[in-house]
This record gives sequence, C-alpha cells and structure tokens, in this order.
Amino acid sequence: MSKTFYIETFGCQMNAHDSEKVIGTLEHEGYSQVADEAEAGLILYNTCSIRDKAEQKVFHRLNEYKRMQGEGKKFAVLGCVAQQEGERIFDRAPYVSLVAGSASYRNLPSMLARLEAGETRITGLDDRQTDQTFDTEFTVRSNPHRGYITIIEGCDKFCAYCVVPYTRGKERSRTSASVLVEARRMADLGYTDIQLLGQNVNSWRDPSGRLSFAELLTAVGNIPGIRRVRFTTSHPRDFTRDIVEAIDATPTLCDHIHLPVQSGSSSVLKAMSREYTREWYLERMSWIHAATRDISITSDMIVGFPGETDADFEETITLLGAVRYDAVFAFKFSPRPNTPAVHMADSIPEAVKNERLRILNDRQREIQREHYARHLGQVQEVMVESYNPARNQVVGRSSQNKTVNFTTAQLVSANPPVGSYLNVRVTQTLPNCLVGEALPPAEGEVSFVPVQRPQPFVVLN
Ligand code: 5AD
Ligand code: SF4
Repeated sequence: MSKTFYIETFGCQMNAHDSEKVIGTLEHEGYSQVADEAEAGLILYNTCSIRDKAEQKVFHRLNEYKRMQGEGKKFAVLGCVAQQEGERIFDRAPYVSLVAGSASYRNLPSMLARLEAGETRITGLDDRQTDQTFDTEFTVRSNPHRGYITIIEGCDKFCAYCVVPYTRGKERSRTSASVLVEARRMADLGYTDIQLLGQNVNSWRDPSGRLSFAELLTAVGNIPGIRRVRFTTSHPRDFTRDIVEAIDATPTLCDHIHLPVQSGSSSVLKAMSREYTREWYLERMSWIHAATRDISITSDMIVGFPGETDADFEETITLLGAVRYDAVFAFKFSPRPNTPAVHMADSIPEAVKNERLRILNDRQREIQREHYARHLGQVQEVMVESYNPARNQVVGRSSQNKTVNFTTAQLVSANPPVGSYLNVRVTQTLPNCLVGEALPPAEGEVSFVPVQRPQPFVVLN
C-alpha cells in the first residue's frame, strides 16, 4: 500500500494539468495511482483558493481525511491553498505531512524521499522566488485525444482581487523549442487537440527570443496531426492584433478567444488594477469582430467588487450587449487573503451581489439565446466527447468550444468513437448548446481508440 497514491484535484485547468504532471512524476518515482482513496498509501489533494468557497471546500474535504488517520496513510496538500496557508495547514490538519505550492513541484522527488524516510512536516513553498518552470516528460494525460501544455507559469499582473500572483509565483515562460517538442510528441502519440495554458497565456515571451505568442500558436497549429489548438487564459493588456490574424490565417487554431473583462466600468477596472479601460477592451473586441472567421468570445466577470455602484454595474450589463459574448462565467466578489482588495471595505451587501449576479446571468442567457441562432443550419465540425444514453445523443464540442448534442441516425455503425471528428448539421439552438444531426463521415475518416487510465477527480471552476 505504501507506494500507491490517490489524488484529487480542485481548481482551474492549470491545476488539472499540474496534477497530470504530478501523477507522472509519482509514477516515475515508483508509485502507482489507485482510484479509491481507501487503497492508497499516499493521498494528495491539489487545491484551489480563487474564491472563499473553493477554499472552504478544501478544508471541508481535508477534515474528512481525519477518519482515515491511523491507517498508515500519508497526506499531502498541494496547489494554491498549500502555497497560501503554508505551515498553518499542519496546525489545522496535523495528519498532513507535506505542503507544497505549484512553484516547488520540480522538487517533488526529493520531497517524496523525505516523506518515505518518515519526515512529517515537509514544505515546498516558493513565495514568488523561482524562475524555473515545472516541465516533465513523464506527464500522464487523462484524455488521450485532447491535452494541455503549460507554456507560462505564474502571474505578474496583481489584479486587486486575485490570489494567483501570490499562489503561483512570478511569471516564467518556457522556450518555444521545448513547447514545440512537447506538442510534436503529443501529435506522434495521436493527440489532435492541444490547449496551451497559462494564467496569462498571452503574456508568454519566448526566453530564446525566437517566436512571438501569435507565431507560437501558428507553429503548434502547423504540426502535422494537430487539428485543434486553443489557448487560455488571455489577458486584455497583452492581447495583440496578430493573435486574431493568426486565427484567421491558420485553420487549426480554434475560433474561440477567452478574454476576461471582469467589469464593464472603467472606474471599477481602475480599482481592480486591470490597467485598461472599457474603451480599450472594446477596441480589442472590434478586432475580433472584424475577423473573417466567426470567432466566439467568452469572458469572466466579477460582480460586487468594493465600491461598484448601480451605474458601474449597469455598464457591465451594457457591455454584454456590446460584445455579444458566447459565454460568460460570472462570480460574486470574494475577498481573498494577501490581496489589496481585502483591505478595501467589502461594501456591497451579499443580497446586492446575488441580485447583480442574477441580472447578469439572465441578460447573458437572453443574448446567448439570440446569438446562438446564427448557427442554425450550419455544418460544424465536432470532436466527439461522450455519449448520453438517456437522450440517445452523442456529445461533442465545436471549434468555438460550444457543446453540440447530436444524433447519428444516418450512421450505419454504432456510436462514433470518442476523439473522432464529425460534421454535424445544427438543427436547433439553445442558450447553452447546439443540437444537430451528424452527416455521414467522410471517406477515410480517422477514428481513435481511447486508452483509459484512472482519472483524477477534477472540479473545474
Ligand atoms: N472573487 C471573485 N472572483 C474572482 N476571480 C478571481 N479572483 C476572484 C475573487 N477574489 C474570478 C475572475 C477570474 C476567474 C478565474 O475567477 O473572474 O477571471
Ligand atoms: Fe487555479 Fe487560481 Fe484556483 Fe490556483 S487559485 S487553482 S491558479 S483558479
């Protein structure tokens, strides 16, 4: 039992992918992953602290570890709560032996050796010091068709509400050569869909000075075998026009840009230290709207930031109409430790935050209902993700990152394999997804046989 491990992951895609790298590192050190925590000698918890709710979930789950004490198990807390709370976790949960933030994962082998030697208070906390990235050739990806590649770690933006600069350390980019080697290796293994990751993915700067971010996108998109390339999350400050031009020029670059605005009010944006105005953001939107391709745009929003007036909030609502987003992820402001906003009076009552969130989501739903109608009758290429037996529908994703539920009535064979690509005619549009019917597969269509591995439990924000 001692060399078995169980891992649970909370948080963003960066965390999900970190876990894939941690799993690979552990396996290389002789551990094997089990799907049931009861069978594991080592239980790891990769945590998120973006909002208070996420952090509470972590401590709630950590409390549940308690009942497994005395079974000879060891516990490790990784990720953003680990970095944020540090040694305080040992006080709160004395049965935890290892606390490590993401900027210290490259030292995992030596931390594991100390754990095996019986040490009980091991910390890997980096506090914005490191300029190294965590690259490993041992990554164990849970999906055999779509895979992440981290191209930049950390964050130097210091938005007033955000923990990330404190939990993930300073910004550091990988070289274009190392990213392209990994992407080519993935293409050789049969991956067709690559998502480049970074907290500020478009702040990526090639340490070797060879490629711009847009050129890197194009280079990954031109790797034979790669059919889809996405990137997330972009920051408006670093959003340049050549990114739109690259998408227009390279069919494998997906027609989707996630560009969080956070607020439609320039004065709230100033208080948030976002370092752009509403007008500046809208100018970037006009570049995307002017593209030849129908590029879907998605965003994150925060309601109830300290000092947000009714008029400020109204500007967020009018921005929704001006941009016509394809999806918006909206959150109530949550004061976070160490961030500047924690010292601003959290002046907006919970009831007002709730009401603003409801209004925003209702308005956005209305926009999506109208805006998705443009897809009616279109033929969209869909990557197959799963099958929903209750509805007898195949579930897939379009290049725009929309969920497409479709039937395969015209297919002679059974359900198309996960990871394959099909053309689907859209017969109905709903506010959150498209519904359609698959066209017969083109001759020579490639199918992929999925390789199943134990999947880390991932809760995406
Ligand atoms: N409160 C609420 N939402 C937050 N986000 C980040 N920090 C906070 C916070 N303190 C949201 C932002 C970000 C998304 C990942 O989470 O909208 O883009
Ligand atoms: Fe990801 Fe931010 Fe949560 Fe850390 S705090 S896991 S960076 S969302």
